[in-house]
Amino acid sequence: MLDKLSTFAAAAFEQCGFEPALGRVILSNRPQLCQFQCDGAMKGAKQLRRPPMEIAKAVADVLAENPAFSMVDVAPPGFINLNVTDEFLLQNLASAADDARLGVPATENPRTIVLDYGGPNVAKSLHVGHLRSAIIGESLKRLMRFLGHTTVGDIHLGDWGLQIGLVIAQLEELGLTADDITAELLCDVYPQASARSKMDPEFSKKAHDYTVALQQREPAKVAVWKKILEVSRADLSASYRDLGVSFDLWYGESDAGAFIPAVLDKLNAQNLLQLDDGAQVVHVTDENDNPPLPPCIIIKSDGAYIYATTDVATIEQRMQEFAPHEIWYVTDKRQGLHFEQVFRVVQKSNIVADETALRFLGFGTMNGSDGKPFKTRDGGVMNLRDLISLVTTQAMEKIADSTYIPDADKPETARKIAVASLKFGDLVNHRTKDYIFDLQKFLSFEGKTGSYILYTLARINSILGKAGEENPQFAQLAGDAERELAIALLLTGQQFAHAAAQQAPNFVAESAYTIAVAFAKFYHDSNILNETCAQTRASRLALCKLTRDLLLLHLDILGIEAVEAM
Ligand code: ARG
Repeated sequence: MLDKLSTFAAAAFEQCGFEPALGRVILSNRPQLCQFQCDGAMKGAKQLRRPPMEIAKAVADVLAENPAFSMVDVAPPGFINLNVTDEFLLQNLASAADDARLGVPATENPRTIVLDYGGPNVAKSLHVGHLRSAIIGESLKRLMRFLGHTTVGDIHLGDWGLQIGLVIAQLEELGLTADDITAELLCDVYPQASARSKMDPEFSKKAHDYTVALQQREPAKVAVWKKILEVSRADLSASYRDLGVSFDLWYGESDAGAFIPAVLDKLNAQNLLQLDDGAQVVHVTDENDNPPLPPCIIIKSDGAYIYATTDVATIEQRMQEFAPHEIWYVTDKRQGLHFEQVFRVVQKSNIVADETALRFLGFGTMNGSDGKPFKTRDGGVMNLRDLISLVTTQAMEKIADSTYIPDADKPETARKIAVASLKFGDLVNHRTKDYIFDLQKFLSFEGKTGSYILYTLARINSILGKAGEENPQFAQLAGDAERELAIALLLTGQQFAHAAAQQAPNFVAESAYTIAVAFAKFYHDSNILNETCAQTRASRLALCKLTRDLLLLHLDILGIEAVEAM
């Protein structure tokens, strides 16, 4: 809708002899005064050295002729204040309701985007540290896919590192073989091995040797590794399923190994590999870096490859397989330097084309109420499955007495409320911010929470169920609450585009919340079911229905399932 209004304003600026780009219409900063505003006259005044009021008045005179506007006003120093007619809103509402995309336009520039998110390490259980990556990445993938881009979501398993050598060494100590490996066993074995390696240098050396042997594909090590991978994958995919997260690809760091030779060839062909203290490195800093970027190690002095080698090789792999326009990394923001180095290496060596966009989308930490990274009461890192069941238990307590939910449905409803609260509680924060894990707040049925959005939807379902009207039509808008709701609904496309441009799903979460609040006001102010005028009743039901469909779309993009009743 804002695009449409901006087109009108741009044409008016142009007709008055000004630059059309000045005609950008935004939501009003002062909703009591008007619905929309255009600040182009002030900008134009500077460029053209003419009084802003003069420009604003000329443009306003043209806009006043446009039947979409019910009010065009000019206010000092040069604001153009705008209200649209109810007919204009109704037309837009009706066409959104009729549209399979609910009025949200698809992109005109579809891109292929590989999203690297999740990033758990096999043999270790999935913990809250990986929770944010999974939740944010899933939502970004869904957003970009809905907007018409081709997306490839890759979990990029950490399956090739020291943790595998540690686990293999510890299994040997315990006299266990590949056949004994289960997910429960792995949960115990890794912490044991990790603790032991810190106290026992001989054990630690063995674990390192085993890691190198695995990376050189020694059959005995590969056999155990395969079993670890198989068990871990099954366990991980169950956890991700509970969380409503899925991946197109289950590649791991190990899959990049095959691409290392091609990378080394490209680096050598351009003389980029240099010897530095026995290691082979690429110098990636340039004169604009302050402080300079440290060189990126590709091969360590003992001949081993490291995290950066794998990431460079993975980019080579992705370019060969998907030739993506963009690669997005959803990773803890503390990995920023690592990715900066990796990006420089692939750009210098033309492993990626100049136009390929590599985006590091760092996120902040989920903290406990003490402001430190979230831990369990005994100080450990919480397992994701335990976390979901903790939240589900609390959600169950909240709905135990509800008469709206049949008892048989309560466990499943509690699970959905739990996951929705957890995910919304995360996604509503800008991804770069740290946030506090506050279960009571997340589960509250009021405020900016997942529960509140689910509750709003359940309320609308109940109204629509009772109304028994199949295909209600928009006919009128009565009162400001209805207009505000209409505008909130019609801004969805704008909000999604903004979230995509910023790679920040919190704008989708905000939009859902704004709609839910506008709906609550409308519901409070208007008769719906017992409205006596049939046309008014139908029109309000049409508003309910579009609100429901758009809220469901928002939730789907956030990767959140709704509940029927609550
Ligand atoms: N496995 C890594 C970790 O646990 C995250 C992987 C992120 N993606 C990547 N391409 N490096 O920290």
